[in-house]
Amino acid sequence: MEDFINITPVAASRIDQVDFDNLAFGSVFTDHMFVCDYRNGAWERPSIVPFAPMHMSPAASVLHYGQAVFEGMKAFKDDTGSVWLFRPEQNGKRLAASSERLAIPQFPVPVFLSALKELLTRDKEWIKPGKGNSLYVRPFVFASAAGVQASAASEYRFMVICAPVSSYYGGEVRVKIADHFSRAPQGGTGYAKAAGNYGGQFYPTQLANNEGYQQIIWTDAATHEYIEEAGTMNLFFRIGDTLLTAPTSDSILDGVTRKSILDLAKHMDIQTEVRPLKVAELLAAQKSGTLQEIFGSGTAVVVQPISGFGYKGENYETPLPKDSYALKLKNALMDIQYNKAEDPFQWRYKVCD
Ligand code: COI
Repeated sequence: MEDFINITPVAASRIDQVDFDNLAFGSVFTDHMFVCDYRNGAWERPSIVPFAPMHMSPAASVLHYGQAVFEGMKAFKDDTGSVWLFRPEQNGKRLAASSERLAIPQFPVPVFLSALKELLTRDKEWIKPGKGNSLYVRPFVFASAAGVQASAASEYRFMVICAPVSSYYGGEVRVKIADHFSRAPQGGTGYAKAAGNYGGQFYPTQLANNEGYQQIIWTDAATHEYIEEAGTMNLFFRIGDTLLTAPTSDSILDGVTRKSILDLAKHMDIQTEVRPLKVAELLAAQKSGTLQEIFGSGTAVVVQPISGFGYKGENYETPLPKDSYALKLKNALMDIQYNKAEDPFQWRYKVCD
């Protein structure tokens, strides 16, 4: 594969200019990026080049119609210096599914995996060991063809960029349950990791931020009665001793962390239920005291406890219980990711030593 990729290494690494103890999530990028263009009906020979701004037509289709999809993944370094990805084939497959929904040609999963291996091996010094440190890996595809016809473009670019990160949220996370705005209608692009799914959340999230919430819990667009997901996270609710999450659908992202949490919970003898959950049921559980905890899951956050939620002007507190499932599951998951525990599901993928 290395021969197949055109490689232009940086003249001098920027790594010495980076303060790894004070990283704002996704704001510093590694030395190299992976680029592969789609023209004349085929993906061309890919390259790895120094991370740099790129030349693009102001008429590039993505700038006008948002034809773009992405993935979020993390690479981890263990105590011996080996580098690991977590279930990368899942991200490759989801990128293909997202691409299909956005009428973007699918990037082949085997080349996706080779791209990651080559790029991460080259930039492995940027991955710091220690639980909590990782490299956030951002594969994405966008319509690069110049032209403002409102139809699928003829040219695309697949890229991977990487950012060293520590935690996504600094402090506690409170969420507001949506009763007016919607993230994704039935039949829409909600299940895809489409750029526009995120851009469309920024304004309602800003309004929620002004009220003291970090994120919104999205509800179904038709009735606002059913809980779906929160911005960058799938959601889990512990009611009694059962861990509940909504089933994936065409409006909910099929999170890799979400499905891993479900498998891990079963493995740890935690009872799980995947079923639609009504806001009314959540409020009733909160009122009766059976709601034990709420947490979000996602690549960026891993597992994020939610300390309270707001609904129609009322605030509810959900402090972590002593025997929190969120913390147990987060530790178990991170131990697998950082090669500190057995990997019964074979989720780890070796990148390099
Ligand atoms: C993820 O956690 O899966 C993400 O990609 C987060 C990103 C939108 C910041």
